[in-house]
Amino acid sequence: MSFTQPKPARQRVQRCELAVPASNVKMIEKSADCDADFVFLDLEDAVAPGDKVQARKNAIEAVNDIDWAGKGKTIVVRINGLDTHYMYRDVIDLVEQAGNKLDTIFIPKVGDPADVYMVDALLTQIEEAKGFENKIAIEAIIETALGMANVEAIAQSSPRLEALHFGVADYSASNRARTVNIGGLNPDYPGDQWHFAISRMVVACRAYGLRPIDGPFGDIKDPEGYMLACRRGAALGIEGKWAIHPSQIEMANEVFSPPEEEVAKAHRILEELEKAAKEGKGAATLDGKMIDAASAKMAENVVRAAEAIAAKS
Ligand code: GLV
Ligand code: MG
Repeated sequence: MSFTQPKPARQRVQRCELAVPASNVKMIEKSADCDADFVFLDLEDAVAPGDKVQARKNAIEAVNDIDWAGKGKTIVVRINGLDTHYMYRDVIDLVEQAGNKLDTIFIPKVGDPADVYMVDALLTQIEEAKGFENKIAIEAIIETALGMANVEAIAQSSPRLEALHFGVADYSASNRARTVNIGGLNPDYPGDQWHFAISRMVVACRAYGLRPIDGPFGDIKDPEGYMLACRRGAALGIEGKWAIHPSQIEMANEVFSPPEEEVAKAHRILEELEKAAKEGKGAATLDGKMIDAASAKMAENVVRAAEAIAAKS
């Protein structure tokens, strides 16, 4: 291990984050009883300019009035981007009026660390002025070429940061990738055209103790495509995925919960290595495969994820 060991962010189970336009009160009410670990009330791209003010009011009311924690949910509000005139009032109204009930603020289109710094400074001032005891966390969406170019610096931008998300739709637009779909594979590309971006973001997150989360998959009529996108992400270290429709929640929960066989195997790895250690050996074999201290770390990741999920449910 390096002597440099960044402190991990607060741990939370985040297998699925349901996106809910804050302009739609019925959808907000329904989301309170869904099975997603996180719900984000959107003030940004799912809300038309004419509805922004009312959506902000709805979000404040929902954060205050619904017992999100009691329903096992982390409640998040996605504010408008720093390039809009909505953003300052999103933060100030929301946090002054509902900050003591809000878990995280979601910042879209983060381009460099200063974007996070500004929100952190505002949160710090409002929390102090209002005497809030909770510290609101920050999640940031990496969805522009600038954001991806600065992803390592963004990952270190604030102790409030807990997660980075890959926003494939804006990322496609920003990079002029040849698609008009939100996520999914382009058959012209031999493989997964999002591999580099997601992998780069995962590395930045893991280096600095954050959770890497994958964003939307737009084709709600293609559950198989959604499931495959979850699996590709999980293979790279992604910890959870957005649902833009309630039908996607169960699939994300399934893929991002370690399967029973994997947990059982992880326990066997740890047991075999414990036995080997008692015999003074660092490595062992299990089912014909070599296992060593790195296998123990992989196994511990699986066991810890399973325990956190079990503790939550
Ligand atoms: C999410 O905001 C995206 O652009 O994919
Ligand atoms: Mg976006």
